[in-house]
Amino acid sequence: MADTPLAAPTAPTFYFIGVTTRQSSSRKIFPLWMEALGRPEVVWRGIDLPIHAPPEIYRQVVAHIAEQPLALGALVTTHKIDLLAAARDLFDEFGPYARLTDEVSSIAKEEGRLVGRATDPVAGGLSLDAILGAGYFARTGGEVLLLGAGGSALALCLHLLQKPQPGDRPRRIVVVNRSAGRLVRLRQMVEQFDTDIQFDYVQNETPQRNDELLAALPPASVVINATGMGKDTPGSPLTDDALFPQRGVVWELNYRGELDFLRQARAQPSARSLTVADGWDYFVHGWSQVIAHVLHAPIDPALFARLSQLAAAVR
Ligand SMILES: NC(=O)c1ccc[n+]([C@@H]2O[C@H](COP(=O)([O-])OP(=O)(O)OC[C@H]3O[C@@H](n4cnc5c(N)ncnc54)[C@H](OP(=O)(O)O)[C@@H]3O)[C@@H](O)[C@H]2O)c1
Repeated sequence: MADTPLAAPTAPTFYFIGVTTRQSSSRKIFPLWMEALGRPEVVWRGIDLPIHAPPEIYRQVVAHIAEQPLALGALVTTHKIDLLAAARDLFDEFGPYARLTDEVSSIAKEEGRLVGRATDPVAGGLSLDAILGAGYFARTGGEVLLLGAGGSALALCLHLLQKPQPGDRPRRIVVVNRSAGRLVRLRQMVEQFDTDIQFDYVQNETPQRNDELLAALPPASVVINATGMGKDTPGSPLTDDALFPQRGVVWELNYRGELDFLRQARAQPSARSLTVADGWDYFVHGWSQVIAHVLHAPIDPALFARLSQLAAAVR
């Protein structure tokens, strides 16, 4: 990418900025979605950049999207923080979540202005709400154990912090992360809110310690693997001896990979009555959020259901 400047698009183009974009299911699903949205002329184009690419590369990509009339916008994965840090001044406007999280996952054009948004709080939030249903925490008294404190964990905390109904907010969220820096960043975000949720921050990368944190949860608690372990890196943040809470909810944010954490949850005795979910709906929500911004095409629940169905067919 550094030596080959981006070619000018010859058709309306939706860019996908990632690391190994050709392996994403989105490449196959995108044309089906464009058909369903009545925009079959829009093409998908992946831009692969190394993790933590040089700032100049991010600036070239953002400038290309800004300057090319046929470049409609982009979905950004992995580079959400670095791209914004390198190219902040090339944007005309940011959505409120981009400012709060300091990352950009959606690049759209609105009346000539380049607009950056963070979509994880909405996409992750919609997925979590669908898994839990309304008033979950009031109904069950469950708490939340969030393994990992990266971008998606921060987005989920933001979502729960902003829940207007007390019954949709857990009494306590325990966040575990390997490095201290991510916990500090999360705490700084949480401290911007006046909240009744108790946050406990635990710096740890030992699976046995995570098992202990799991064992201390009340029944019906929600356990989320946001570490990337089981896809980005091997293994699980828990040991095979971990016992999930009775009637608990187990959510693995990924839908592909070895998914060891998901396997551990599915291997629990059926008497524990767990609800176990993967990250497929999160993936579809994430894409549909960005497509709605870039194509200026609102996606209502019925249309989302259709897009989800089309995606499932090529999963
Ligand atoms: N289905 C979807 O559409 C979807 C959407 C969003 C995210 N995801 C997936 O969810 C995962 C997390 O995404 P993200 O954006 O939040 O990633 P991220 O920003 O890289 O965060 C991962 C965090 O987990 C921590 N971590 C890694 N191993 C750990 C361990 N053993 N114990 C404790 N903490 C550990 C990392 O700590 P350090 O600070 O030490 O590195 C990092 O802070 C990724 O695999 C991503 O693919 C899926």
